[in-house]
Parts: sequence; C-alpha cells; structure tokens
Amino acid sequence: MDVFTTIQNRRSIRAYKDKAIEEPVLNKVLEAARLAPSAGNNQAWKFMVVKDPETRKELAVASKGQKQVEQAPVILVGISMEPEGKMPNGQQRGPIDLSIAFSFMVLEATELGLGTCWLGAYDEGEVKNILGIPAPLRVIAMTPLGYPAEHPPAKPRKSADQIVIYEKYS
Ligand SMILES: Cc1cc2nc3c(=O)[nH]c(=O)nc-3n(C[C@H](O)[C@H](O)[C@H](O)COP(=O)(O)O)c2cc1C
Repeated sequence: MDVFTTIQNRRSIRAYKDKAIEEPVLNKVLEAARLAPSAGNNQAWKFMVVKDPETRKELAVASKGQKQVEQAPVILVGISMEPEGKMPNGQQRGPIDLSIAFSFMVLEATELGLGTCWLGAYDEGEVKNILGIPAPLRVIAMTPLGYPAEHPPAKPRKSADQIVIYEKYS
C-alpha cells in the first residue's frame, strides 16, 4: 500500500478481534514512531505499550468507559517528557511531536492491517495514576491497537475549496 492509499483506508476502529498482535508487527508500529521527526530532533517522548487485561480495564474506565480500550489487545500511550518545551514560534513541542509520531504509528498500523482509534477522551490524571507516570510528564495521546472487528465507511470531510487558501488569506 502506498502512503496515500493507507491514508485513504484508515478509519477510527472501535471494535477489535480477540487476537494478539505478533511481536514483529507491534515492533514495526513502534518503529514508525521512533523514526518520526521532532522539533530539533529532541525526541523527548516515550511510548508505553499496555497489554495487561486488568490495566486495560482500568484505562477504559479512565477513558469514559470507551469499550474499545478494554477490548483491543494493546493500548499505546504517548508521553511527552518535556511538556513545557516551546519552539521559536511559541508553540509547545510536546503535543506536536507526539501527534506526528502517533500519526506515523496510526498509518503504519493501517498498512499492517491493524486498527487504531486516537483517544482524547480520557482523564489524564487517572491514566498517570494507573500507569505510574510521573506527575510533570504529559499523556498527549492514546490509541487502542488491534485487528479490526468492524469496517466503518469513510466519515465526511470538508471539500478542498473550504479549507485550502492560496497566496493571501481570504
Ligand atoms: C485528537 C483526536 C481525539 C479523538 N478522541 C477520540 C476519542 O476519545 N474516542 C473516540 O472514539 N474517537 C476519538 N477520535 C476519533 C475521531 O472521532 C475520528 O477521527 C473522526 O470522527 C473521523 O473519523 P475517522 O477517524 O474514522 O476518519 C479522536 C480523534 C482525534 C484526532
């Protein structure tokens, strides 16, 4: 699959098969994060892999009861190690770096036949407690990872002429 086809095929998956992810497959997804760019090549990130069923159950509760968190065999958790770090443009590096790395993982997962669902609906404090993540660090994103048990249709998107502006802002 080329990158564009992978982008077209990706969906948020909220139902997963009860099937473990083979280690080489999981490692390839993680490798996509490792190779992602970051501001100043800082790489101030950690990627947690959670497989334990009890921990996943706790994470599901911390994620407003989203059942896919408990159902998927793996939960990936993206942590910023320097959440206060800023770029010269004043924007925070952490959420941007982590979002790029997560996007790379999501696309690699899609190419490998795996499903993901970016999670923003979770209580960060609870997630940190459950996983023992030190208070100053930030949990930027999480996603379940597993073999899809659903194949949802594409969600609508705005048209190009609604979102693309050429030359000067108008
Ligand atoms: C930053 C972000 C946070 C999201 N949080 C959640 C979430 O907590 N739970 C969920 O089911 N989907 C979540 N989503 C998935 C979006 O609902 C989904 O991407 C959107 O509806 C478009 O559907 P698609 O991903 O299948 O194209 C999130 C997506 C993004 C990018």
